[in-house]
Amino acid sequence: MERIVLEGGVPLKGVIQISGAKNAVLPIIAASLLADGDFTIYDTPWLADVENMCEILASLGVQTEFCDGTLHINTKNLNGVEPTQESVRKMRASFLTMGPLLTRFGKVKMCLPGGCAIGARPIDLHLKGFEALGAQITIGEGHITAEADHLIGSKIYLDFPSVGATENIMMAAVLAEGNTNIENAAAEPEIVDLANFLNAMGAKIKGAGTKIIRIQGVNSLQAITHTVIPDRVEAGSFLVAAAATGGDLLLLNVIEQHLQSIIAKLKEAGIAVEEEYDGLRIRSDGGRLQPLDIKTLPYPGFATDMQPQFMALMTRAKGTSVVAETVFENRFMHVAELQKMGADIRIEGNVARIQGIESLTGADVTATDLRAGAALVIAGLMAKGCTRINEVYHIDRGYEKFCAKLEKVGARIKRIG
Ligand code: EPZ
Repeated sequence: MERIVLEGGVPLKGVIQISGAKNAVLPIIAASLLADGDFTIYDTPWLADVENMCEILASLGVQTEFCDGTLHINTKNLNGVEPTQESVRKMRASFLTMGPLLTRFGKVKMCLPGGCAIGARPIDLHLKGFEALGAQITIGEGHITAEADHLIGSKIYLDFPSVGATENIMMAAVLAEGNTNIENAAAEPEIVDLANFLNAMGAKIKGAGTKIIRIQGVNSLQAITHTVIPDRVEAGSFLVAAAATGGDLLLLNVIEQHLQSIIAKLKEAGIAVEEEYDGLRIRSDGGRLQPLDIKTLPYPGFATDMQPQFMALMTRAKGTSVVAETVFENRFMHVAELQKMGADIRIEGNVARIQGIESLTGADVTATDLRAGAALVIAGLMAKGCTRINEVYHIDRGYEKFCAKLEKVGARIKRIG
């Protein structure tokens, strides 16, 4: 089993190139199932989750080839509606293939999806959307089957602005007959990137990035070329790492607008982030920061995917910070690991109270999910002494060349085993 070993106390200094967004490219790869042809997708991050999504497409007869940041997808031999169980169980995003397959072929059968351990993460909103479009859903023996002669546009209200449900319903509606409105839709930048991808394919979508998305069904779509937006969570993670170690980092390939809530919180903590002509620059003297009150919310609120990283940062703040996790019901598994490093954190329901201390101490810890793993790396960069992180495969799901990018800006970090 591979692990990461790192020595804390080194300020990060230099330039980091941010990769394409994992949470944009995964639905975009799924959307390629909506048309026959050759797709070229630039700025694709080569991640475990991307590889897994390509395996799912391969199980349906789709050929994919990745070379130097570019993913080629050839869907001309697409011949199935039942993605391979083994890959689907590994990753919840697999379920994003359901909408495209349902609307294209009128039938799709999948085993119940897997994914991180950050909560139950049901799919009821996805299925409610498909049923509103006219699909019959049957669930049995661990499988879900959706069938419809053809989908008919409808008005769909989401009880919660679910990112995945918004994406899946949008992809099902683009080939449905008539118009569909998705109300209380998620507004994340990754939704906008997917809508731009679908519109370039010939879809008719308006309002992506707002609470109401309007879709006019079309008869067919075409294969295209697209460049994925930068990964705002990877960028945010490196900003926090620089703030935590007293560094001076320039991040290239970022969209500042997507990071507003992160930048605002760093400023509140006492760290300035400036936009330069080619990226975002962050400088920190490594001193203890002001404590923060953080509440995770759907975009443009504070991103839940940045909650573990900020909690690591707050373990050394000058006072008590409060973090409320409102999006997922079980996204505090990194707390026990941070406590092994000396952090003073108390959990009360979905609220964590972090009493800042002078310094963390390196320890043996375990990544429990993708962003918890990133938080432990940040904690190790801050701590005195050596930290060893196990189960690093979680980090590989969402961070491209994470150790190499950190080593390049001075971190004493190695991947072993
Ligand atoms: C997406 O997950 C992201 N993943 C997650 O990023 C991110 O944390 C999440 O959105 C919220 O921003 C990808 O885009 C691949 P949701 P998703 O549906 O779509 C509940 C990372 O670290 N819900 O918005 O699964 C659900 O239980 C990952 O990169 C229902 O109740 O998130 C959760 O509590 C982690 N019923 C909340 O909504 C449903 O049908 C948010 O889930 C669907 C969701």
